[in-house]
Amino acid sequence: MRILVTGADGQLGREIVQRLDGKAGYELTAMDIDKLDITSSYKVFDTIEALRPHVVINCAAYTKVDACEENVDLAYRINAIGPQNLAAATFDIGAKLVHISTDYVFDGTSKVPLKEDAKTNPINVYGASKKLGEEMVRSLNPRHFIFRTAWLYGDGKNFVRTMLSLGQKGDTIRVVNDQIGSPTSTVDLSNCIIEMMHTNSYGTYHATCQGSCSWYDFAKEIFRLKGMNVEVVPITTEELGSIANRPGYSVLDNFMLRLIDKDIFRNWQDALYEYIREDK
Ligand SMILES: NC(=O)c1ccc[n+]([C@@H]2O[C@H](COP(=O)([O-])OP(=O)(O)OC[C@H]3O[C@@H](n4cnc5c(N)ncnc54)[C@H](OP(=O)(O)O)[C@@H]3O)[C@@H](O)[C@H]2O)c1
Repeated sequence: MRILVTGADGQLGREIVQRLDGKAGYELTAMDIDKLDITSSYKVFDTIEALRPHVVINCAAYTKVDACEENVDLAYRINAIGPQNLAAATFDIGAKLVHISTDYVFDGTSKVPLKEDAKTNPINVYGASKKLGEEMVRSLNPRHFIFRTAWLYGDGKNFVRTMLSLGQKGDTIRVVNDQIGSPTSTVDLSNCIIEMMHTNSYGTYHATCQGSCSWYDFAKEIFRLKGMNVEVVPITTEELGSIANRPGYSVLDNFMLRLIDKDIFRNWQDALYEYIREDK
């Protein structure tokens, strides 16, 4: 199976590349923005036409949520035009497209875990640009998988590494306690993507680790698992005062994966335990 991974140097990209590179049955091409800028229509079409992959896994995105508010055009270019290019180019050669979306397509007002058909209503530019990216993929290539994930951590800049580095400085850390979501390991998400890309079960899927917590609970669990004694103080979103609005509650229910017996995600604490144990 020929696979093209875009955004290959991001957290998820690295995990997928590590998983597939040199493995029997896979011929992998991994490209980040230096080799393939997904916002360039002609480069995307040329590359896909030349490589003729069976599956394209799009891990490229503009993920800096606050920066998206200030760089609106760039956010839409990467998160919507990029997927548009990939969807059109994969459709032309009959390839499958795996695309990753986010819990931030929702507004955070739900009180219960959100199923795939829940109404989207993004409250920041990042979420709105990702929502448009989903729509591009859906409308341009029926052979698509859209995985909405959340609070992702792997090999790259993420909340776990930020907390550990702040904790090592010995300061008291203030962490938001009124945003609830599901921390998700790139290991679990990659397992799901790799299993699903072999199927024809196209569609939109919620794909997060099981269970939920606040960022404050997440931070406390990181330090507990690491055996670090760090003072963590719960604060509100308002007190933090970040640039972009954030959904208050964005717990996703992996309903569609469950229906087809593909919900292979671990509990968030178990996945975090493995990450903390193995991350250098
Ligand atoms: N991180 C999360 O908490 C989270 C939560 C929910 C959903 N997601 C989604 O999950 C997916 C993977 O996220 P991630 O955390 O792995 O992201 P990431 O670590 O930020 O990686 C994204 C990669 O895409 C690259 N990129 C940016 N613009 C590009 C372009 N025009 N063409 C090609 N590559 C480009 C980035 O390069 P630079 O670093 O040089 O910009 C980076 O290497 C994304 O679709 C994201 O929206 C992430």
